[in-house]
Amino acid sequence: MFEKVTAYPGDPILSLNEDFQRDPRSGKVNLSIGIYFDDNGKLPVMEAVQQAVQQVLAGPGARPYLPMSGLADYRSAVQSLVFGSSCEAQKAGRIATLQTLGGSGALKVGSDFLKRYFPDSQVWISDPSWENHRVLFEGSGFKVNTYPYYDSNTGGLRFDEMLAAIEGLPARSIVLLHACCHNPTGVDLNHEQWQALVPVLRERNLIAFVDMAYQGFGDGLDEDAYAPRLLADAGITCLVANSFSKNFSLYGERCGGLSVVCADKDEAQRVLGQLTCTVRANYSNPPTHGASVVARVLNTPALRSLWESELGAMRERILAMRHAIHKGLQGHVHGPALERYLSQRGMFTYTGLSAEQVDRLRAQYGVYVLRSGRMCVAGLNKNNVGVVASAVAAVQS
Ligand code: LMR
Repeated sequence: MFEKVTAYPGDPILSLNEDFQRDPRSGKVNLSIGIYFDDNGKLPVMEAVQQAVQQVLAGPGARPYLPMSGLADYRSAVQSLVFGSSCEAQKAGRIATLQTLGGSGALKVGSDFLKRYFPDSQVWISDPSWENHRVLFEGSGFKVNTYPYYDSNTGGLRFDEMLAAIEGLPARSIVLLHACCHNPTGVDLNHEQWQALVPVLRERNLIAFVDMAYQGFGDGLDEDAYAPRLLADAGITCLVANSFSKNFSLYGERCGGLSVVCADKDEAQRVLGQLTCTVRANYSNPPTHGASVVARVLNTPALRSLWESELGAMRERILAMRHAIHKGLQGHVHGPALERYLSQRGMFTYTGLSAEQVDRLRAQYGVYVLRSGRMCVAGLNKNNVGVVASAVAAVQS
């Protein structure tokens, strides 16, 4: 029956992470997957999250089905966190927000929804982008193309070429944008560049789909949400996927959200209805536990401020690690190849290492980096950064 089923070659991120788990070497270092580890190399359990878990578990234990759209308290907290507490679109009821299975679930529900209403549109992602963007949109039946983004010579952005490419897209093309901490390059648009994009999206009648998986890991919770807030305030109809995997260290709970900014309240209600229809057709309704914990933290002032300060410390530690590896590579790596450790933001640095150098890093030194050259600097710590810097210097020399 299944004799024609071919072998799955594996996922460039998740399968590599599984290879890492199986690697018996004690000195191995995991800089492959986008996970924040603390200075002892452990997955942190945030204190605010732990307190919220205890509060949730002390409550009634019944676990009814959630509504297809998810937990109401969670959905409103997502809106405020993503769009800010003074967002006019939110106040006007123009945003349809759904609880989703992580950021990936938000992208999937959004892309299935878009395919139903814009079957002839094509999707445009940055070159490069998170590997799973292409897989997700192609899975919904879209043709996926790329727009210019990363400049490998400077380690920065090819903004003029990006803007020109987007200006040339057919109306109703879907443009996937990273709100902050671009995955995999760590290179973001600045405020002026976002502002320059707004009239292009509007005049070309494009559908912006903003992915925000790393809110709080760049410059701060509000600062990192600049793009979705700008688009919503400018009256641009757009979709925004957000995730709590990283900023709550709740990877396995699959907590995310999909928000669609609409023209008016009536449209938002109809869009929400069609999004819930997509959910029903895929998995009926989302799970309760993780969303209850996230909602408890976001809606309880004391837990919220504790969470914000813990997240701030994570952000600071990543910056310190960027400086530490930069220092360790001085004299071995030069120019933009060195400076990108400091100039790029968030969990990732696009090292410029070739696939062959990455393979050597893994085979000879037990240091795992993606074959694209993406390094998760949030996996560096005071004990491994020296070893990693020596290994990178050795394969690059
Ligand atoms: C990553 O990019 O490493 C993370 O977002 C994990 C994933 O699902 O790929």
